[in-house]
Amino acid sequence: MLTVRAPATSANLGSGFDVFGVALDRPADIVRVEKAAKTTIEVTGVGSQYIPEDPEKNTVGAVAEALEAPAHIEIDKGVRPASGLGSSAASAAAAAVGLNELYDRGYSREELVPIAAKGEAVVSGDAHDDNVAPSIMGGFTIATDEGVTKVDADIPLVACLPDIVVSTRDARRVVPETARVEQLVETVGWAATLTSGMHRNDPELVGTGMNDTVVTPARADLIDGYEQVKAAAHAAGATGVTISGAGPTVIAACHESDQRSVGTAMMDAFDEVGVQSRVYQTEIGDGATIY
Ligand code: HSE
Repeated sequence: MLTVRAPATSANLGSGFDVFGVALDRPADIVRVEKAAKTTIEVTGVGSQYIPEDPEKNTVGAVAEALEAPAHIEIDKGVRPASGLGSSAASAAAAAVGLNELYDRGYSREELVPIAAKGEAVVSGDAHDDNVAPSIMGGFTIATDEGVTKVDADIPLVACLPDIVVSTRDARRVVPETARVEQLVETVGWAATLTSGMHRNDPELVGTGMNDTVVTPARADLIDGYEQVKAAAHAAGATGVTISGAGPTVIAACHESDQRSVGTAMMDAFDEVGVQSRVYQTEIGDGATIY
């Protein structure tokens, strides 16, 4: 038996829709894998009642099949499903890393990204690398059709998860089909600024780059209190605020000294619109770790 911890992730970061992602230091899923004649799955932990254990319907079943690695797989969920924190990606990433090791398949971390993304597709309907890449590789990742570029970055983050459920499928339905050239130009500017900020470990540049006038505004209506929470986080010192993944988590970048006040301000703002929430004071962390 082998145990893997795979972290929650935040994708998009505003300007990097379907491309940028970061591994979060916490929360995380813990996955145990053991060789077996056929794949069986057991799920416990946060939101486990909503996760199917049928290998045909569970994200890790597709990963086991892709790696031809049947196993008994125990998933202890630390990342709530439908949170915007890469919950299914964390399980898929952990299974890919664990089964690759258990069956000695010899894939590199980067090669495991599209394999884990197949698992992601089972639940989200589309294969996206932007969550599985950082969960497998850690750091800040830029996932494109040409592969994954990873930057080891050190940026304090606050993730505020409201007690609302937004499915990735629903959040993708509201994404506009077109954007204006001016929006393309400003998005390139923000994405370049954010990437530069990651290289320099600069929360101001990263925050400036966490901007988006195309996808995020279209999704904001799915999150009660989003605008109030964003304003409160900025007032408490956040350098940038956006929707994490497909939502409903709201993620902020800030200086370490402001982390606590930003977290409290976000939670209070959700509270004012009658929504309970919990806060993760976190930072960019490592990818999946085998124990
Ligand atoms: N980038 C995706 C989205 C998140 O925002 O819909 C899931 O990979």
